[in-house]
Amino acid sequence: MSWESFFEALWRNYLAVTPQAATIHRALADRGETVVNDHVALRTFDVSPISLAELEPTLLGLGYRRFAPYDFPARQLRAFGYLHEDPGAPRVFLSELLTGGFSGKLQRFVRSCCASVDSGATEDAEIFLAGRPWPMPTWQTYQDLLVESDYAAWLAVLGLCANHFTISVNGLRHFRTVPEIVDFVASLGFPINEEGGRIKGGPTVLLEQASTYADHIPMTFADGDQHDVPTCYYEFARRYPEEDGSLYQGFVAASANHIFASTRAAG
Ligand code: NI
Repeated sequence: MSWESFFEALWRNYLAVTPQAATIHRALADRGETVVNDHVALRTFDVSPISLAELEPTLLGLGYRRFAPYDFPARQLRAFGYLHEDPGAPRVFLSELLTGGFSGKLQRFVRSCCASVDSGATEDAEIFLAGRPWPMPTWQTYQDLLVESDYAAWLAVLGLCANHFTISVNGLRHFRTVPEIVDFVASLGFPINEEGGRIKGGPTVLLEQASTYADHIPMTFADGDQHDVPTCYYEFARRYPEEDGSLYQGFVAASANHIFASTRAAG
């Protein structure tokens, strides 16, 4: 699979649960903008066969290389950033939940999810396109997961899809700054994640970011109950040049830590 067809399919799946992204994308196109993706974020559990280390070869197979690690001890997450040999490809941010620090109940649930994943399915990037690879949890299980980790609850329901796409503000023509694009998106009626401030980072850390809150979409749980749950959100990023003049390529853990909150249930 080429990286182009991978992201086309990932984008289609993302739009199916993130109607705000289609609205924002269209509104920008109406302003004459061509949207370029800064990065796409993927989530997983640290349990075989879908741990970060086991999924990484699928990204390498698309032409990516490992760039830098990031740690989020307060959320019990770790992540890697990946860069592609083609500068036109979005960066990838792949995080995994370190389940060992959670309750035995959460760990047993995650292990049961991962046990239903065919290990052969993780040899190809298709694993990120095939939908939730385990049965839908019950509403009660979802509630229990939320108490411990909204990341775990999100992953249990959504599976290994894109958590967010990110518009490159550097790639826009008329919107020059993150505050400008965020004001525009807010004017369309989409609330902005204010945790840690509306704008995360800035020139001093060479990366400035903001995000919407996730859409809420009705989902049918294993017991037949239907409830609205947070799905995915849209992010905006502006990169600043390093001393040698090249654009900063990394991520900023302090900012990403707040952006993870964009899928919280109360958002
Ligand atoms: Ni992001």
